[in-house]
Amino acid sequence: MPKEPYDFAAWTQFIPESEIRRLLKYNVPYYFGGGKPGALPLETLAKILIELGNDQLTEIKKGNEARPIDDWNYGATMGKAFLRKTLAKRLIEKDGIQLDAEHPENDVTITTGSQQALYAIIDTCIDKDDVILTTSPAYLGFLMPAVKLGARIVTVPTDLQGGIPEYFEEAIKVCKKELGKKPEMIYVVPDSDNPKGTTIPKKRREALFEIAQEHHVMIVEDAAYREIQFKGPHEPPIKSMDTENKYVAYLRTSSKEAAVVRIGYNVFPPRVREHVNKDKGYLDLASPTIVQRILDIYYRKYIDKVLPDALKTYQKRASVMGKAIDETFPRGKRTDPTGGFFIWWESDDRTFDAKQFLETVALPNDIIFVPGVAFYPLMGLSYRPEKKNLVPVERALNTMRISYSYTTSDVIDTGVRKLGGLLKDALS
Ligand SMILES: Cc1ncc(COP(=O)(O)O)c(C=O)c1O
Repeated sequence: MPKEPYDFAAWTQFIPESEIRRLLKYNVPYYFGGGKPGALPLETLAKILIELGNDQLTEIKKGNEARPIDDWNYGATMGKAFLRKTLAKRLIEKDGIQLDAEHPENDVTITTGSQQALYAIIDTCIDKDDVILTTSPAYLGFLMPAVKLGARIVTVPTDLQGGIPEYFEEAIKVCKKELGKKPEMIYVVPDSDNPKGTTIPKKRREALFEIAQEHHVMIVEDAAYREIQFKGPHEPPIKSMDTENKYVAYLRTSSKEAAVVRIGYNVFPPRVREHVNKDKGYLDLASPTIVQRILDIYYRKYIDKVLPDALKTYQKRASVMGKAIDETFPRGKRTDPTGGFFIWWESDDRTFDAKQFLETVALPNDIIFVPGVAFYPLMGLSYRPEKKNLVPVERALNTMRISYSYTTSDVIDTGVRKLGGLLKDALS
């Protein structure tokens, strides 16, 4: 390629394209790649568009153009009050989140997807070399921006119940001693996390909140799959324990529970909210108003009618995938999600390279999954509980994230069994 007569920023040299974005380019029949929602409320969404269009036509015919003009215009950076009110009510009633008694909507901020909230919160709270603690593995859409924005990531081991509070606490102490810095932030996905699909139980959530209070560290609680819970107990959000709105930044999204219309909704401590909004003002000025109208109708009138059906579909898909893995995969361990979109599988053969297997075997056979390596930071450190020390970041290459959200049960059954056969051939 010819060299341009100008320079690019340094990050372009070391941050690769997101592995999931890269894999989205492949259009294969056995798609177990990105966390794309497949059980969408299509009829409801179509009805909402008609309702919205008819309302606008009525207003226009009456000569009242103000509202339609507003709907197709720039809105407030923190989001439109009508949607923030609707969502605030839901967060209070369904999840026990405490919001301002008089104007709860003032505590809710809209972003363009929770991805923007993640980016803006790192941008707002992290200076170069500041430390962030997170799980090993973790959502790559958090890890990459954090590395890009100069954070030092320290990963902490997980088990089948997600993040382990004791290890987070020990890691905070070790960071202070070895790096001379207290971590600024703990990032967790407590409800059916991405990539493992595990859920943090209540006791651990309480312990994490206590750690945040004691060590003055902010928890970024990414609850992207909060509404996608199909079995097991609904654990309280860590945010519901943060009654003074001080320690937890709570991130939700419409992407998994409504449709991918790029709207996130968040409850941030006041000063965080102020700075994140300032940042958002420069990132995109505001999120689209018309989309906020669509979602307002969805959350007010439809979500509780249509979501139960979607949950049944996801539950069926998860169980078909789990069964096919159990019956056809070589020796390994998998998670058993009670919600969310993913199963995580780890081969007992530690020399297995899932990324290489994807490129050379799975893709040519029309199958996509995401190799586990994508969910470990590009650079950073890992906390080792056995020795209570930090080591260069550890990655488990023998792992894969297999998504059941997008394809139908039949396709999952055929594709995962085919994948199992290929894995057995490769690993025997
Ligand atoms: C854990 C997690 N957080 C955030 C996001 C980003 O979601 P959004 O579509 O709201 O930007 C995703 C998307 O897959 C996710 O899995």
